[in-house]
Amino acid sequence: MKTNKLRLGVNIDHVATIRNARGGRHPDPVKAAIAAAHAGADGITAHLREDRRHITDGDIDRLTAEIDLPLNLEMAATREMLEIALRHKPHAACIVPEKREERTTEGGLDVVKGRNNLSYYVRALTGAGIRVSLFIEPDAAALEAARALGAPVVELHTGTYCEAYNLAPTGPEVQRELARIVEAARAAQALGLECHAGHGLTFDTVGPVAAIPAVVELNIGHFLIGEAIFSGLDSAIKRMRALMDKARAESGGARSA
Ligand code: PXP
Repeated sequence: MKTNKLRLGVNIDHVATIRNARGGRHPDPVKAAIAAAHAGADGITAHLREDRRHITDGDIDRLTAEIDLPLNLEMAATREMLEIALRHKPHAACIVPEKREERTTEGGLDVVKGRNNLSYYVRALTGAGIRVSLFIEPDAAALEAARALGAPVVELHTGTYCEAYNLAPTGPEVQRELARIVEAARAAQALGLECHAGHGLTFDTVGPVAAIPAVVELNIGHFLIGEAIFSGLDSAIKRMRALMDKARAESGGARSA
């Protein structure tokens, strides 16, 4: 019987953000990754940005050497990042759009127009045995393009849904954005793409996304690290895990798939 357990990838970027505010070594993102593993994370996600504003090259060296969980390296489609990925051979690489001036990854990849450039990176990473995902908006054209690029996995951007919830939890925009994600997850499955989701997820917004049977992995960072200030990282991750599992079980998705 195939079980359909939803995986939780914990993004530790913002442990490094706090460390970098003062320089030095504390708090250590690798220690956070080890704590996340103990709390029930299924994977660790880290974004090595071009400007190294949080995770550093040294963090990636240590994450590769010191953690047992699969590492999902978030990276821009650049020669520099490709070379780093090929050197470290993480379990997975999630290609994301990157702009220097943005505070966080603001939207999905322009897979439709950026097709030629991206196909080179998808091929190079896949050829090295790295599982490639493309971070895209939840829409049909982006899914078709991702499939044409040969990526086995897509990660659906949940940021617009989460922002809508934060502005007006009961507003119509929340349901509209959620419907886009549900539809895109279904379409991804129909296209034979493994479907992940993430960005902006919190205790309040995770349930409806976790309930989508086609979604097999959520990547969550900022909220968990922020929440750890109040309740500790272990407790924050365990509560997120429990909310995910509850939503999945209630949707019938935890049973055989
Ligand atoms: N997935 C991707 C592709 C991301 O770029 C990010 C942010 O680095 C996340 C998930 C996690 O988003 P958040 O930190 O808002 O939970």
